Amino acid sequence: MESEFIKVVITDKRLVGPDHGILELKPVDGSELPTFSAGSHIGVRTPEGSMRQYSLANSPLERDRYLIAVRADRVGRGASRSMVEKTQAGDILKILPPENNFELVPANEYLFIAGGIGITPILSMCHKLAADGHQNFRVIYCTQSRENTVFADELETADFAANVILHHDGGDPAHLYDLWPHLEQPTAAHVYCCGPKMMMEDVRDMSGHWPEQQIHFEDFKPVEVSQADDREFTVLLKKSGARITVPKNQTILETLRERGYDLRSSCESGTCGACKTVLLDGDVEHRDLVLSDKERDRFIMICVSRAADEEITIDL
Ligand code: FES
Repeated sequence: MESEFIKVVITDKRLVGPDHGILELKPVDGSELPTFSAGSHIGVRTPEGSMRQYSLANSPLERDRYLIAVRADRVGRGASRSMVEKTQAGDILKILPPENNFELVPANEYLFIAGGIGITPILSMCHKLAADGHQNFRVIYCTQSRENTVFADELETADFAANVILHHDGGDPAHLYDLWPHLEQPTAAHVYCCGPKMMMEDVRDMSGHWPEQQIHFEDFKPVEVSQADDREFTVLLKKSGARITVPKNQTILETLRERGYDLRSSCESGTCGACKTVLLDGDVEHRDLVLSDKERDRFIMICVSRAADEEITIDL
């Protein structure tokens, strides 16, 4: 897996308010980066040691850099926080090549709805459309305040600035942007939505009468790697007989790595299958999106899943 990683250097870092950072990444050897399409994301090994996925915000025509935005999650395990607080220009990061689960399909018209950091893939889509001379799109971008709005300047000065509605609600539910006038009557537009869970649920509810294939969502957190009620448990490693305690705030993968085990992984978010491990005994709380129901008795994805009881035994 290590061979898949690309080494990049942070060539520019901007803080946006206390919780957001915009990072420009370039290859350390000055070569070109792998191509990407609008809506793509990359995996980044954060300074804290976990993998996280970040959408690319720049134009897919650019081959010399990737631009990402990160929000420091104050209640998570510190991975995104380490990206905002513990990085600086000149630091080297390891990334995985771009993948796209949020493809921009060809259409005559688009409606983009973004909340907070969710603007990132949508900005890349806007760059792509503008480069193609496609102007029939509208962007509705909602944040709490100007202070923590990533890419506000870029959007206001872009060629397509006239297509953008920037709305700040001050964190007051009474001042949320009213999306209903845009969704009440289905049109030929393809709707792309990326943002907080509540916004995506609202758009899902309001667009239920639209043709399904015209509505597209990007969810930044397909898997809840950590949950508030996580607790400590033990893992018995069959081959060595070692019994290892997994703390409540770490995954099995992180714990074993700290103990020096050389383990295969990639996404570290339960979506790629790289860390699939044979389960020999015990009940598991499966949190991945990889295993079929049939496989769940025999395997565990150790990057996200945990013991449901006190102990599990795995084939390591
Ligand atoms: S590393 Fe991808 S599923 Fe575990």
